[in-house]
Amino acid sequence: MYLRNCSNLPLRYLRTLLQRMENTPNKSLLKHYKGLLQSIDLYEYIMETSVYPREPAPLKELRIATANHPWFFMSAAPDAAQLMGMLLKIVNAKKTIEIGVYTGYSLLLTALSIPDDGKIVAIDINRETYEIGLPIIRKAGVEHKIDFIESQAIPKESEGSFDFAFVDANKDDYMNYHERILKLVKVGGLIIYDNTLWRGTVALPEEAVSEDRRDSRRSIIEFNKSIAIDHRLEISLAPCGDGMTICRRIC
Ligand SMILES: C[S@@+](CC[C@H](N)C(=O)[O-])C[C@H]1O[C@@H](n2cnc3c(N)ncnc32)[C@H](O)[C@@H]1O
Repeated sequence: MYLRNCSNLPLRYLRTLLQRMENTPNKSLLKHYKGLLQSIDLYEYIMETSVYPREPAPLKELRIATANHPWFFMSAAPDAAQLMGMLLKIVNAKKTIEIGVYTGYSLLLTALSIPDDGKIVAIDINRETYEIGLPIIRKAGVEHKIDFIESQAIPKESEGSFDFAFVDANKDDYMNYHERILKLVKVGGLIIYDNTLWRGTVALPEEAVSEDRRDSRRSIIEFNKSIAIDHRLEISLAPCGDGMTICRRIC
């Protein structure tokens, strides 16, 4: 199961991964390895030293509850989420929007990071997976901050009404989302796009990438190019998780 999802990884990563899977006592760690770091030991070091020890208990519970779901690999990587949680607090985000919820790891992280009267508009075409995480979200006492909308449409809200946006849905649509999301986020607000290194495939020749990931790879490459020259933003492509582009709207 896991290996099938890793079929796009460069061969040497896959080899290392296989060796580590046989030896590691902590197989769940490997579920979040996206192949971006040169060594899985380094990834393990980061996770065990500074990510897992500080991961809030409800997030850990949600991560474990998701680990055996067939699409577990879609969850935001805990190392990237940790950075996102800090950014939410730095900008004092109160009203946020998230596109792509799955079981809710990034959603719960956001709900735990914004104030008690904060609000998150959370959009996903699939409510079923959201419901896997919902009991944990409830138990954490943050459900009242979430307005879940089962849809693929970005809601019509007034311009500049959000402090923060997290985009983690259909990768082929990032270009389409961008203009609409940019208007919704206020000047000075942040937009984060997840998976912008697409497991490192953006830097591989197309023939080295499995066919099922080629279209998304192309879309992400185009998106990265257009974001890089978008003068309405300051950007940083952080190589954590699966690559996370942090954008600050400046005009
Ligand atoms: C990568 S997962 C999101 C992971 C989530 N942020 C987390 O931390 O667990 C992508 C999600 O986007 C949803 N999705 C796919 N296409 C969509 C669309 N056009 N509009 C809204 N949601 C979409 C999928 O149902 C899936 O749950």
